[in-house]
Amino acid sequence: MGTTIDFFDTKSYDRDSFARVLAAVGLTARFHEFRLTSETATIVHDAPAVCVFVNDRLDRACFETLRAAGVRHVALRCAGFNNVDLEAARTLGIAVTRVPAYSPHAVAEHTVALLLALNRRIHRAYNRVRDHNFSLHGLVGLDLYGRTVGVIGTGKIGRLVAQILLGFGMRVIAHDPYPATEWARACGVAYLPLDEVLAASDVLTLHLPLNPQSHHLLDERALALVKPGATIVNTSRGKLVDTTALIAALKARRLGGVALDVYEEEEGVFFEDLSGEPLADDELSRLLTFPNVIVTAHQAFLSGDALAEIARVTTENLARGRRGESFLEGTVL
Ligand code: NAI
Repeated sequence: MGTTIDFFDTKSYDRDSFARVLAAVGLTARFHEFRLTSETATIVHDAPAVCVFVNDRLDRACFETLRAAGVRHVALRCAGFNNVDLEAARTLGIAVTRVPAYSPHAVAEHTVALLLALNRRIHRAYNRVRDHNFSLHGLVGLDLYGRTVGVIGTGKIGRLVAQILLGFGMRVIAHDPYPATEWARACGVAYLPLDEVLAASDVLTLHLPLNPQSHHLLDERALALVKPGATIVNTSRGKLVDTTALIAALKARRLGGVALDVYEEEEGVFFEDLSGEPLADDELSRLLTFPNVIVTAHQAFLSGDALAEIARVTTENLARGRRGESFLEGTVL
């Protein structure tokens, strides 16, 4: 008899990408639309593993409930793991795996898409033209060519973004506590202290993980250092930016624009269809009123190639876990 795995916080595209690969290894899934929390964990019974996503809340209480239900493996079908109490998992003997790099290209390309759309006011032009308003008033952008982009975090995604923007003829400066020195030398990228990157960049783009050190990396102090008129792009994690301070900087007209694929309080909002309902989050509502702010709802990862790779790696790890074999290299947290 096949093993059934509970999948939390799923959408139709998850079901589509996983159903076939799971069947090929003799696994079946119970796809839940709700998120995993210590309360919803009680629906898991006699299962060796569960599969979760970015906004499932894996705190100690949740892990304890999962352990009592027999779970020995939590498979994250994403790269980020700031929502997981790894220490609790370790003490309870639960292995946690992730998909470290399903498609850094998907995220890098979405980052550049947001930057281009914001810079050339595509979001405004699109709506205008559909309303037969062909005026160009207020649509003036900048040449990215020759301008400076500051890449904060030069891991897989940050390096790809840098390379795309080098192709546009931008000058790239970067900050990372673990610099990729050879890559930087080969590409002509200069590493600088954070404050210098903030002050010198026309475009700032965030590609670092969220952890206690990086929480509110862009706070009131940091935003005060940012070059006046600069554009900020965040496709990494919402809590890297202090939203209250960001709104204040936008209201003071100190920023050229802001493009976000992630938001501090996105849990319970992003990925949901709330059209027709009042938006309860006042800061998100305020952000959406600025003409120079674009928000997408955590969709940077969402390419068919990335979904297929997520399903392949996650399913391979679920199958290996069931057979008692070691997980794919580099996927264990
Ligand atoms: P990675 O692990 O390859 O690179 C992260 C880089 O950040 C590393 O070079 C690390 O040294 C650096 N870093 C760590 N702390 C830093 C700090 N305080 N300041 C500057 N740099 C710092 O990660 P990858 O694959 O490039 O992903 C980056 C982030 O993108 C992830 O942490 C995740 O939060 C986010 N992401 C967002 C997605 C989306 O759909 N919007 C999808 C996938 C990832």
